[in-house]
Amino acid sequence: MKKKIALSGIQPTGIFTIGNYLGAINSWVKMQEDYDCIFFIANMHSLTTIKDPEYLNKTILKIAALLIACGINTKENILYVQSMIPQHAELSWVLQCHTQFGELGRMTQFKDKSKSNNVNVGLFCYPVLMAADILLYKPDVIPIGEDQKQHLELTKTIAKRFNNLYGEIFKIPKEFIPQTGAKIMSLTNPEKKMSKSSENKNSYISVLDSPEDILKKFKKTVTDSGSEIKFSKEKPGISNLIKIYSSISNITIKETEEKFKNISYKDFKISVAEAVINKLQPIQNKYYEIIENKDFLIKILEEGSKKAFSIAEKNLNEIYKKIGIKF
Ligand code: TYM
Repeated sequence: MKKKIALSGIQPTGIFTIGNYLGAINSWVKMQEDYDCIFFIANMHSLTTIKDPEYLNKTILKIAALLIACGINTKENILYVQSMIPQHAELSWVLQCHTQFGELGRMTQFKDKSKSNNVNVGLFCYPVLMAADILLYKPDVIPIGEDQKQHLELTKTIAKRFNNLYGEIFKIPKEFIPQTGAKIMSLTNPEKKMSKSSENKNSYISVLDSPEDILKKFKKTVTDSGSEIKFSKEKPGISNLIKIYSSISNITIKETEEKFKNISYKDFKISVAEAVINKLQPIQNKYYEIIENKDFLIKILEEGSKKAFSIAEKNLNEIYKKIGIKF
């Protein structure tokens, strides 16, 4: 690999949402021009929440098909499934031995998820597996949404601690977080992040939602009692729609405000829905073509995994030697 490396992953917990698309996948697609890219389906992470083998297995292939439909070029880049590379779990153990209990306890995502009674140890250790996913491949940049920023900060802390102890092993990666799509909020509660694992289907737009459903969901979006299309803290619902429109249309927040200056909330919601429908239509068409061909998808993932394995194997060997557990 001659260019700089970009690396990122997505969990196969469900068909991804426009939040995932605008926060991460859109950046993945764009970064292919300037970086050698390594993308993976983070199925080991999904075991923290999903205990349904058939669902998990099917969703992995669906996510692979969707990523290709969104424009991930698997000829030039690497797309693989995390569980096909055992070095992720191996490095994760090594890194766990270099991570403080208190550091993991401070992760806001863990704090949110651990409010229920069913908290498994995997949920607690999850950020360390994420650090292993990243550091194993020595990437330069990690395209992610804002919700993953804290995990990336922890990754850097662990990498620096490791380098101080054993000499320069890990590259310290930088995050890439897009300006407008960094955190798309729920359509039913704009104080909460839009999430593909939410039980309320009206709270998110899946990239495979039909045009009718997209329009229906946007029409129902929670806004406020005002009438101005203005981005502000006091108007979280309208601000969320402005963010969605800006990032899907590739224009600034200001330009969006200007464009819809004299428009009612009702008409603005319809315009946002139309922009989303137009963006998703070609992705959906391509997806339904690809998903039919399971053998093709499995072949792509196996080929990607072979390439990822050779990098992971070499790098983990180096790490094991440096820390004194291999001759
Ligand atoms: P996941 O599967 O939850 O989400 C995939 C990507 O989508 C971004 N994202 C969002 N962006 C904007 N608005 C939203 N509402 C929104 N929801 C999600 C996420 O920030 C993410 O970039 N832990 C990761 C997967 C992972 C990973 C990694 C990522 C595992 N190992 C190593 C990067 C590097 C996760 O659960 O993403």
